[in-house]
Amino acid sequence: MKKRKVAILTSGGDAPGMNPCIRACVRFGLYKGLEMFGVNRGYQGLIDDEIFPMNSRSVSDIVQRGGTFLKSARCPEFRSLEYIGKAVDNLKRRGITHLITIGGDGTFRGAKDMADNFDISVIGIPGTIDNDLAYTDFTLGFDTAVNTVLWAINSLRDTMGSHDRCSLLEVMGRHCGDIALYAGICGGAEYILVPEVPYDLDAIAQSLTKARERGKTSNMIVFAEGAGDREKILSYLMEKTGVKITTTTLGHIQRGGSPTMQDRILANKFGERAIELILLGASNRVVGIRNNSIIDENVSEALQMPRKFDKKLYDLAWIMGL
Ligand code: F6P
Repeated sequence: MKKRKVAILTSGGDAPGMNPCIRACVRFGLYKGLEMFGVNRGYQGLIDDEIFPMNSRSVSDIVQRGGTFLKSARCPEFRSLEYIGKAVDNLKRRGITHLITIGGDGTFRGAKDMADNFDISVIGIPGTIDNDLAYTDFTLGFDTAVNTVLWAINSLRDTMGSHDRCSLLEVMGRHCGDIALYAGICGGAEYILVPEVPYDLDAIAQSLTKARERGKTSNMIVFAEGAGDREKILSYLMEKTGVKITTTTLGHIQRGGSPTMQDRILANKFGERAIELILLGASNRVVGIRNNSIIDENVSEALQMPRKFDKKLYDLAWIMGL
């Protein structure tokens, strides 16, 4: 019997955990008798025919590395069926019938367009630090990113304490405040500003002033990039409270770093389920984790689910910061 051929790519913003996940897919796939291929630079590399065979050694020494050794790219061309067709032709020419895509919602939309319009089976694995996919409790890279932010909060707290200052820390999250929320509550931030919950700057200023009167000498505000204009927030709060506030923007530091235990475990379990789905002949499915169990879901349904923000955790964080 001819071996089934499977290609893997990573697309969109990279995330720690992508490398161990590629490794898991390749090694579990080989163990199950599949022939494995890598695609460089995501969908762009698929269009440009950057496809190569992978063996067990191809994924040596990457389990501990952030980023993705397959490289990643954003590829607007992949919205057009003409380019998707070109990409599929490149797979078909090698007899590849299955594709595993690791990335976020944009990556999954590309995967869905491929499987809906061409004879190719596609399985998605969630890889994005933002944790912004509704169907799964966690995405690859989120835990590592939160721990990177926590490291920054711990360091900032040391110096804030010495100088009786307030810190405004900007973290990633254009539409999703999960990094700010999880790092904020774990790091003891007094105020957490996220795109999902409206906030009252005047109330924050009053609370900051009262906290100082009560003897709190340093404060931490964690702010998700999509939660407003940082400079406006900064000048408003400084003017209203008279407190010296220093700002730190972590930026792309959050996207790198050695994946944590949590992200490596997820990487292995997600990779295993993706290969199992291929062996079952499934297509158009995405893998995830819900209530601590690995699940898979139809990609269209997964993309349509409304995102739920953990308001209960958010409210708890405010109480903990009082
Ligand atoms: O990976 C998600 C994300 O990190 C967002 O939180 C951030 O705004 C964006 O990607 C920035 O990515 P890039 O600089 O690659 O466009």
